[in-house]
Amino acid sequence: MRQTLSSLLIFGWIWLSETLAQSTSSTPVPTGVAIQGDYTGPYRPRVHYSPPKGFMNDPNGLFKDNNGTWHMYYQYNPTDVVAGNQHWGHATSPDLYHWTNQPIALFPPNSTSGVFSGSAVLDPNNTSGFFPNTTEGVVAIYTLNTPTKQTQELAYSFDGGYTFTPYSGNPVLDVNSNQFRDPKVIRYDDTWVMVIAFASEYVIGIYTSSDLKEWSHASNISHIDLLGIQYECPNLVSLPISNSSETGWVLTISVNPGAPLGGSITEYFAGEFNGTHFKPHDGATRLSNFAKDDYAGQFFYDQPISIGWASNWGYTNTVPTASEGWRSAMTLPRKNSLVDTGIRGWEMVQEIYDVSPILSQQLSFTQNLANTSTEASFNNGLYFDMNITFPEKVTFSSYASMNFTFSTNSTGESVKGGYILAGSTPYTAWLDRGKTSGFDSPLFTDKFSVSQVSPAKRITGVMDRSLFEVYVDDGAVVGTMDVYPTEPLTKFTISTGDLPEGAQITFSAWEIQDTWA
Ligand SMILES: *[C@@H]1O[C@H](CO)[C@@H](O)[C@H](O)[C@H]1NC(C)=O
Ligand SMILES: *[C@@H]1O[C@H](CO)[C@@H](O)[C@H](O)[C@H]1NC(C)=O
Ligand SMILES: *[C@@H]1O[C@H](CO)[C@@H](O)[C@H](O)[C@H]1NC(C)=O
Ligand SMILES: *[C@@H]1O[C@H](CO)[C@@H](O)[C@H](O)[C@H]1NC(C)=O
Ligand SMILES: *[C@@H]1O[C@H](CO)[C@@H](O)[C@H](O)[C@H]1NC(C)=O
Ligand SMILES: *[C@@H]1O[C@H](CO)[C@@H](O)[C@H](O)[C@H]1NC(C)=O
Ligand SMILES: *[C@@H]1O[C@H](CO)[C@@H](O)[C@H](O)[C@H]1NC(C)=O
Ligand SMILES: *[C@@H]1O[C@H](CO)[C@@H](O)[C@H](O)[C@H]1NC(C)=O
Ligand SMILES: *[C@@H]1O[C@H](CO)[C@@H](O)[C@H](O)[C@H]1NC(C)=O
Ligand SMILES: *[C@@H]1O[C@H](CO)[C@@H](O)[C@H](O)[C@H]1NC(C)=O
Ligand SMILES: *[C@@H]1O[C@H](CO)[C@@H](O)[C@H](O)[C@H]1NC(C)=O
Ligand SMILES: *[C@@H]1O[C@H](CO)[C@@H](O)[C@H](O)[C@H]1NC(C)=O
Repeated sequence: MRQTLSSLLIFGWIWLSETLAQSTSSTPVPTGVAIQGDYTGPYRPRVHYSPPKGFMNDPNGLFKDNNGTWHMYYQYNPTDVVAGNQHWGHATSPDLYHWTNQPIALFPPNSTSGVFSGSAVLDPNNTSGFFPNTTEGVVAIYTLNTPTKQTQELAYSFDGGYTFTPYSGNPVLDVNSNQFRDPKVIRYDDTWVMVIAFASEYVIGIYTSSDLKEWSHASNISHIDLLGIQYECPNLVSLPISNSSETGWVLTISVNPGAPLGGSITEYFAGEFNGTHFKPHDGATRLSNFAKDDYAGQFFYDQPISIGWASNWGYTNTVPTASEGWRSAMTLPRKNSLVDTGIRGWEMVQEIYDVSPILSQQLSFTQNLANTSTEASFNNGLYFDMNITFPEKVTFSSYASMNFTFSTNSTGESVKGGYILAGSTPYTAWLDRGKTSGFDSPLFTDKFSVSQVSPAKRITGVMDRSLFEVYVDDGAVVGTMDVYPTEPLTKFTISTGDLPEGAQITFSAWEIQDTWA
């Protein structure tokens, strides 16, 4: 009897495994049609992009076409809610918030390879020779991952980035390495410049090309500051300097694992670039985010605009949004610039890109929130903004602070944040996702904070279902945090206390739109 039962169980297990294996391997990946998604689930962000179904990670190939349409591709597993089976998903938007899902743009050649991260460029002058008949040619430059190697390949598009043809001369760059990936290409004078990661050697390689097909090694930058375990997704771009007509250079490197707070994070270096060599202005490590959910950010081709992946490799494959058939969202779009802060050197400022298309009705307006509080109820999500001024040469009482809380209707869960003006940690922004019970994991840290040299002048926050972002001083510091309450957060309160005489805080909150409705 026991034997029979165990045979039956074993037989059943084999049958089930085979059925599952077959159904997985035979799950067709749609070609030529956009994958449909159900965007109504309680964890679905309303204004942050998330994929229709399956698993998404790094943004790829970001560019804006001549008609003003923003194109975003992304690392995409269309057949499962964990990383793997990498394709390039595709979405387009007129404003970086309202996205239309497009058919998958790049497919791996077979089941043992993946189309890994990369970038896209516009080639109006036919430098590549791919475009005999159009000035709207787009070339994608990406890593093909196979079991033995990572090589760099091209695919070109005649129709503005909707469909691509792989180049028959691929690969265009092969150094016989299985840790060589994520090419990001820019135009510098009349050449193409690529930065790429020798991931496990802590080297960012710089290559140049006249036609995107033949690449020459120009220089290496290695072992700069935070190492982590691997370097990924470098970007080297020119950004405007705030309040100036000048531009400066920034190199970003994404590090995984081994971020100071665990898992993955992005560091950046402002510096000088002369077409072949990059030199940071100083030896300091600066992180692009003070929380944990902002990785592999990429800049749009020839634009100071960027988007990051709002998750962390430490837990991304286990977050509870899988119950809605998807995992991972992107950060808000950001407009970036460089600021010379004086003694602290050059910093990157990541302002939220024009939010006017996503603001719905105004929920609250307070002319002066000093020493008082206000609250609001919301459905989709909430955007708040506060401009803060203090009298000159002010001294703060040791309890001077501002706190905000988002809470659920009935479960008692909440997400909190605030700003400490005085005491032992002055000028500190903080976030706390610990009072939510939808998810737990060793690396899913609860609390984050960052200190500033002087008190914040502006604090802007966006609560968007399973994502919260705070931008202090127009993005001088940014915190991006995934949150998983078991019921939607629908109530907001903010209070400030013990502020000095003469403090002035203009506060406003809006309901955000559901961009998928
Ligand atoms: C899959 O494609 C890659 C890249 O073209 C190739 O190197 C590899 O041999 C292929 N594998 C199989 C099993 O065909
Ligand atoms: C294309 O050529 C024109 C004319 O030479 C030049 O002004 C322009 O910068 C070129 N564009 C690119 C992307 O190289
Ligand atoms: C683009 O380059 C290809 C290859 O060099 C060439 O055959 C074609 O005439 C070029 N087209 C234009 C419009 O320059
Ligand atoms: C341009 O030429 C390519 C290659 O011959 C062709 O596939 C494509 O359809 C043409 N595009 C236009 C707009 O004529
Ligand atoms: C821009 O719009 C025109 C007119 O609608 C269209 O013909 C063209 O293909 C579009 N270009 C791109 C790059 O989408
Ligand atoms: C650049 O770094 C790579 C990876 O470590 C190395 O293989 C290559 O030799 C270096 N090139 C030069 C010129 O140093
Ligand atoms: C830029 O100028 C504005 C207006 O004068 C000022 O409020 C702001 O602090 C300046 N920003 C920087 C980074 O200097
Ligand atoms: C760029 O900088 C490197 C390193 O300082 C130098 O060797 C090279 O000559 C410079 N190139 C140009 C075009 O100035
Ligand atoms: C929260 O409670 C309010 C008032 O009782 C109700 O109108 C709303 O639908 C509830 N929202 C959720 C998400 O349960
Ligand atoms: C903000 O929260 C902190 C920590 O709970 C508390 O010490 C402080 O008094 C609060 N401030 C206000 C204005 O509520
Ligand atoms: C806020 O309250 C404190 C005492 O709690 C008081 O000293 C201060 O003047 C008040 N500030 C404002 C702007 O009313
Ligand atoms: C804060 O200041 C910015 C820039 O001056 C302005 O656009 C925004 O509307 C202000 N927000 C509030 C709540 O006053």
